[in-house]
Amino acid sequence: MLLALETSCDETGVALFSEEGVLVKHLLYSQVALHSPFGGIVPEIASRKQLEVLPSLVKKLLEETNTSLGDLKALAVTFGPGLIGSLLVGVSFTKALSWSLRVPLIKVDHLEAHLRSIFLEKKVEFPYIGLLVSGGHTALFLVNSWENYQLLGSTKDDAAGEAFDKVAKLLGLGYPGGPPIGKLAKKGNRKAIPFPRPMLENKTYEFSFSGLKTAVVNYIKSETSFKIEDICASFEEAVVEVLVEKSLKASKDLGVPRIVVTGGVASNLRLREVFSQRAQKENLEVFFPSPEFCTDNAAMVGIIGWYKWQKKEFTSLEDEPYTRSF
Ligand code: KG4
Ligand code: ZN
Repeated sequence: MLLALETSCDETGVALFSEEGVLVKHLLYSQVALHSPFGGIVPEIASRKQLEVLPSLVKKLLEETNTSLGDLKALAVTFGPGLIGSLLVGVSFTKALSWSLRVPLIKVDHLEAHLRSIFLEKKVEFPYIGLLVSGGHTALFLVNSWENYQLLGSTKDDAAGEAFDKVAKLLGLGYPGGPPIGKLAKKGNRKAIPFPRPMLENKTYEFSFSGLKTAVVNYIKSETSFKIEDICASFEEAVVEVLVEKSLKASKDLGVPRIVVTGGVASNLRLREVFSQRAQKENLEVFFPSPEFCTDNAAMVGIIGWYKWQKKEFTSLEDEPYTRSF
């Protein structure tokens, strides 16, 4: 069996895969409640909690699946990108386990894991356009095969999820910001405030969301009274339109008729709705993982781990975690 681990940020994930590549079970411990009062993730708190939670979560997974340490034949762990303290916890733990059990260590890239997370539930043909939208990243990829994927463009400043989180903090809605904004947006008017659609007219596949956040700040400062539902709806619509139109542009330009949307923001209902409507109109296929596989989890790490296990693509105990992306 293969054990996969994810500790790149504030979620602790563990997953067990069979030798045939089937997900047996995965467990997730989220620290959201711990970071919520701060309106964002506090790295020192995140790594300390990872350290506290990881060993017991692995133990729980093994117990609940009737698995012993001796049944583990390979170990896969996220090496980066992410918060260095959090990454070090997972990587050091997995290295120690790999050394003591004498089983191979497999290095997984967090962004690649998000991009492939769709394979946990669906078979998608290559090539596809991969839109990764999370709290830390917003990027478009051309995914050609299991071995090959290419970055088309990414955000120049804030990630889409980060913009949701910052606007939610401004409106006093807590952290993470995506879910409460999505909820209030349903009751608001999406056309009430003409927030900018950053980089929409730009011919590249790059994004920018910090200006949109500033537009929300300026709107709140300039108005004496406003409806919070309208701000949420108009803001959400601006983000969704940019994400959808840029992905469709990539799909058309490159002649790739399928799009896979992954990462925490992919659970946004309005994003799913607009993507589906536009895809139908343009005769494209669009795929979303279930919400449990959109946010950080170890099952997506195991997908890549299993593939590398089959190919015997192992990493050395001297290899170090990394924080850079792309
Ligand atoms: O993928 P993820 O769990 O962690 C990162 O790797 O960043 O994504 C978390 C991000 C947060 O910024 C959160 O506000 C956003 O995903 N998010 C959403 C929704 N659910 C989570 N954004 C918009 N709508 C949602 N329903
Ligand atoms: Zn992530």
